[in-house]
Amino acid sequence: MIMLTDLPIWETLTAKANAIKSSHMRDMFVADPERAQRYKVSASGLNIDFSKNIIDDEVFGALTSLFQQSNVEEKRNAMFQGEVINTTEGRAVLHTALRNKGADPIYVDGKDIMPDVRDTLAKMKDFVESIHTGSHKGYTGKPIKHIVAIGIGGSFLGPKIMTEALKPYQTDAVKVHFVANVDGCHIHDVLDTLDHEETLVVMSSKSFSTQETLQNTLTAKDWFIKSGGNQNDVSLHFIAISSNVEAAVEFGIDADNIFPMWDWVGGRYSLWSAIGLPIALALGFEHFDALLEGAFEMDTHFLNAPADQNLPMILAGLGIWYRHFFDAQSQVLLPYYHYLRGLPAYVQQLDMESNGKQVDITGQRVDYPTGPIIWGSEGTNGQHSFHQLIHQGAGCMPIDFIFPLTAQNTNHQHHAMLASNCFGQAQALMQGKSFEECYKDLENKGLSASEQKELAQHKTMPGNKPSTTITFNALTPKILGALIAMYEHKVFVQGVVWGLNSFDQWGVELGKVLGSRVLDGLNGDTPLSTFDTSTSSLIKQFQDANPL
Ligand code: F6P
Repeated sequence: MIMLTDLPIWETLTAKANAIKSSHMRDMFVADPERAQRYKVSASGLNIDFSKNIIDDEVFGALTSLFQQSNVEEKRNAMFQGEVINTTEGRAVLHTALRNKGADPIYVDGKDIMPDVRDTLAKMKDFVESIHTGSHKGYTGKPIKHIVAIGIGGSFLGPKIMTEALKPYQTDAVKVHFVANVDGCHIHDVLDTLDHEETLVVMSSKSFSTQETLQNTLTAKDWFIKSGGNQNDVSLHFIAISSNVEAAVEFGIDADNIFPMWDWVGGRYSLWSAIGLPIALALGFEHFDALLEGAFEMDTHFLNAPADQNLPMILAGLGIWYRHFFDAQSQVLLPYYHYLRGLPAYVQQLDMESNGKQVDITGQRVDYPTGPIIWGSEGTNGQHSFHQLIHQGAGCMPIDFIFPLTAQNTNHQHHAMLASNCFGQAQALMQGKSFEECYKDLENKGLSASEQKELAQHKTMPGNKPSTTITFNALTPKILGALIAMYEHKVFVQGVVWGLNSFDQWGVELGKVLGSRVLDGLNGDTPLSTFDTSTSSLIKQFQDANPL
């Protein structure tokens, strides 16, 4: 496999970067009144304005050539066709099959998986309807009014953040509560408010071996029994979503109450599977299906659009451009929409657990940067906390602004102000404010020349800070599906260019193993001498504070 930096186009990109660094975006807009129109692409209801990026046609062309030389389209087609591209785990990667609305079969190990996918969706739909209509009752005959969705990582972030993002679409039939952390206060605060007779626990764990989820489910079961239920009633109040059906049954979940998922669905790509059941319970199955529809539309776009019109490829190319040629350590996500406040956390797992690696798919260590740090928060809140650094701090940190042109549960004044802040921030980051402009603003303020110069230096905003603005008419389930799928495919394209396996996550294993050993130490089952002096000291502190 040719190393990324040895590709023919790499030299061109390097030369382009060295040349363009002396330019300022402000001048690019002056020189080309059509810039905003030329660097804007729409698909699947999403509009991407990428004109406020430090690029020109030659750079943009070189980035699309990079994809050709990295065989992105070939690798993309292999993924969609079910080839085993997750080579370290010997698995296909087919989260796209979960939302496939086409008629074609998709084969894994010679078997068409689409019938199972559709059967599971039908089972989800029936179950959601049984809960919403009240036909599924608790052991005392009460309808279910509260759902406690227990899971972590991809078994939590997708369900929670999509449900939150689509709050205007939530049903009144049930209220869904999410629990993830093994910190007992989380599940305590949720269960403390609920009546066990009208509560259903949805336990989500692909592996059915995640410590936090197992412990939280045990606590929920203990709560259910102590509240008056008994073991025979558990089957009416506990269901599970897992690929490990045997372990779920052994744990005490009724086999009929287990929704299957498959090993060709990665945790951080699983919201489209039965892991998405809490979303369907919160919104109704129709809206969950619209989420799938939107993702399918983005899949179709990703499969068919040429690179220079392909939204995931454009975003992927821009990220690679800044990561390698502007030493960008992070990618910032600023959703200017309260309901999308969880999006940075969602993309954190999607991106950082996929591409946070330094060994390529052949097992060779790579000598170039790969996955960036993903961070951000809802606008306008960030403007009053970290935007100072974005405007005047060192380093390049490309930003995705995300904004719904219309929204529910707001009014024109509020939404116009939100828009003005989103667009104004992108403009300020691009054009900045020069020393000369700041100096002139300080005339006739009663300052001496030296005071005026010094203050102007403090007030200077360099600008030339890149951003991409993603807009759409309204955040409907379908648009949200397209937005999430777009980021999934962006991560995929970057992983291909970096030569990574974006679908395993070996880096999380050691922490789990050592955490389990420390737990034995904390419980006095392992002598402190087996740990390094720092860990043994910390264990001792905990033991002294919590005498058994
Ligand atoms: O430890 C990381 C991880 O495996 C994620 O990839 C996954 O989404 C999460 O833990 C939860 O895993 P499970 O669904 O198997 O409980």
